[in-house]
Amino acid sequence: VGDNAEREKLIIPTVDFVEGAVRILDQTLLPADEVIREIGSVGELADAIRRLAVRGAPAIGIAAAYGMLLSIENLLREQGDGGWFFDRKKGIADISLPEVSAGAVRSRLSEARTELAETRPTAVNLFWALDRMTAAANEAPGDAVDLCRVIAREAFAIHEEELEIEFRIGENGSRFIHDGMGVLTHCNAGGLATAGYGTALAVIYRAHEEGKRFSVFADETRPLLQGARLTVWELQKHGIDVTLLCDNAAASLIASGRIDAVIVGADRIVSNGDTANKIGTCGLAHIARAFDVPFYVAAPWSTFDTTLASGAEIPVEERDPSEVTGFSHVETAPRGTEVYNPAFDITPAELITAIITDRGVIEQPNSRKIKVLSG
Ligand code: MRU
Repeated sequence: VGDNAEREKLIIPTVDFVEGAVRILDQTLLPADEVIREIGSVGELADAIRRLAVRGAPAIGIAAAYGMLLSIENLLREQGDGGWFFDRKKGIADISLPEVSAGAVRSRLSEARTELAETRPTAVNLFWALDRMTAAANEAPGDAVDLCRVIAREAFAIHEEELEIEFRIGENGSRFIHDGMGVLTHCNAGGLATAGYGTALAVIYRAHEEGKRFSVFADETRPLLQGARLTVWELQKHGIDVTLLCDNAAASLIASGRIDAVIVGADRIVSNGDTANKIGTCGLAHIARAFDVPFYVAAPWSTFDTTLASGAEIPVEERDPSEVTGFSHVETAPRGTEVYNPAFDITPAELITAIITDRGVIEQPNSRKIKVLSG
């Protein structure tokens, strides 16, 4: 408990539900500005997810659950006296409103689900959270008030369980980090991408808390610089030694012998262990294998999609060409240039040394081992 209390101080307020609104730390403005945005509609939240104001597979999942709750909050407010109904910490206000029917609640939930499901296709946590919220609603009693309470409790549970899961990932993975190591990471799989502690970075944070001292190297992660803007920002907050590099310096860094482990997060891991993660991850895995450096993936169980047989079936998001042809309003390529801008790539399971999950570590992942852990 003491341990967790210490950690809570470092938890990043990535996403929350406060006094009837979703609150996010706007990641598009980091590291220059730390702005907490209050989001009052499902449409606004869908837009924030698309713009990567809230991003990272587990954080998108929590945001999606809160989006469904927000649709109910707004339905109730149409009948209420202007006050809020749901707050993660303060609880659930009196929602005995005679005008609200269970049918109306279910129809808002279904609309919200459709809108949120169309935001980003690759991170399976989004669909996992929407399915979990829908299942809770389907199993709930017919009474509208009870249904609303079930929805709120489910959304808060998704958020709170996620943080516990991240602590477990850290505990399960810290044994792979030793004093004096050089550890390379890609994109941001830290507190900003999750409920506040991280997946790949949870392993790093836990090892640091255990007193191990090592160096982290962060790929800048073109085109949107999650590594430079976000990973470096949060590692520095945790007091962890970090060095930033351009993505195209990774091969020379690994070849120089300064990297003892690569650790990344995941957006979707399928039955055979093939893993979708930020574009550039697959290349890193190949380089790591060429230089005999272990390559670890850290992810919660909600990132596994055992309905797909192999990575070839994972839908990969293609993003706007402007992310590549310009930077911060400055054009860096001729107008009209054809662009290839996938947000993710697929790392084949055979390049992964181990997948670190909250349920345990899967060394040399394959379908059989993943099936065992699926329960
Ligand atoms: O496009 P993003 O920034 O949402 O991509 C995020 C990643 O690829 C992360 O590595 C992944 O979601 C894991 S986050 C714990």
